[in-house]
Amino acid sequence: MSITWKSPSNIALVKYWGKYGNQLPANPSISFTLDNCHTSTTLTTEERELVHSLSGDFSFELYLDGVKTPSFEPKIESYLNKISGIIPWLKDIHLKIETHNSFPHSSGIASSASGMSALSLCILDEHLNRGGEVPDFFKRASLLSRIGSGSASRSVYGGLVVWGSHQDVPDSHQEYAVPLTRVIHPEFETYQDTVLLVDVGEKAVSSTVGHGLMDNHPYAKSRYDHAVKNLSSLLPILKDGNHEEFGHLVESEALTLHAMMMASNPYFILMKPNTLKIIESIWNFRRDTGLPVYFTLDAGANVHMLYPKAIEQKAMGLVKEELVAFCKDSAYICDHVGTGPSKT
Ligand code: PMV
Repeated sequence: MSITWKSPSNIALVKYWGKYGNQLPANPSISFTLDNCHTSTTLTTEERELVHSLSGDFSFELYLDGVKTPSFEPKIESYLNKISGIIPWLKDIHLKIETHNSFPHSSGIASSASGMSALSLCILDEHLNRGGEVPDFFKRASLLSRIGSGSASRSVYGGLVVWGSHQDVPDSHQEYAVPLTRVIHPEFETYQDTVLLVDVGEKAVSSTVGHGLMDNHPYAKSRYDHAVKNLSSLLPILKDGNHEEFGHLVESEALTLHAMMMASNPYFILMKPNTLKIIESIWNFRRDTGLPVYFTLDAGANVHMLYPKAIEQKAMGLVKEELVAFCKDSAYICDHVGTGPSKT
């Protein structure tokens, strides 16, 4: 019996950075779900001999692009362990997990959001097949995804997605993400994200370590308050379609995330010289043309260039004439706001 889900990555506009308890967010966040950057995962299950299941261990194998990848096993094992209270049959079966990313594994694009959400959707679907009751499939899928990787909670829906309780989003929750159902200006429904790949290696400091360094961070409290305020400010901007205010807020969020890293103890910097060169070029282009082209960053050196679809040709002109020179092996990925995961 095999199940396949394709699930996208997402890019946060108001960032989640800092957590507590079982992967609960220190502040609420909001993201655009992407489309072209996605993971396809096939889960094949097989009953285990009783004698094996009595050993108390999970039985699984993981293939990335057809190649058995033991280096991912500890992360999967820890995830299975954490969700076994919710999905009780996990130790009774053997799981074959075959996964494929649409973007190169080493591209520096976070594969944890798409990967953990694709796997969670497969496991929850199998839970339904086994007679489990799942009253709200995507909420539950978001909760399972969150346990795998916080940002993965937002990948189970399309469009704009909020994770973490916020007074202005009535159904928002700490344990799972919800789609933003209020009216959004149509230009934000088709926003473009060109991901400029500055550095494709393993990150010097993982997100897990970075979140942990917020625990004794001198600016943690003000950062969390600021994120709550930024989310309040962003909601009317998304409704009205004010690109300038959108860009100002989103760029400030990205730089604040990296400022938190620089003010951690120990401090660290994930941006590279070419990250700053791209930011400078985007600012110059905006000043010279008046066009709404903005950037955001996740926990790495790559730059996500955000702009409305209406100016795609001009924005791509900037990429091809100028920005590509700052990308590793001239690589970039053209993406846009997507509709969320699908069962294939
Ligand atoms: O989900 P994690 O633990 O990889 O953390 C993601 C953190 C950021 O990408 C920097 C921000 C976010 O909200 O996605």
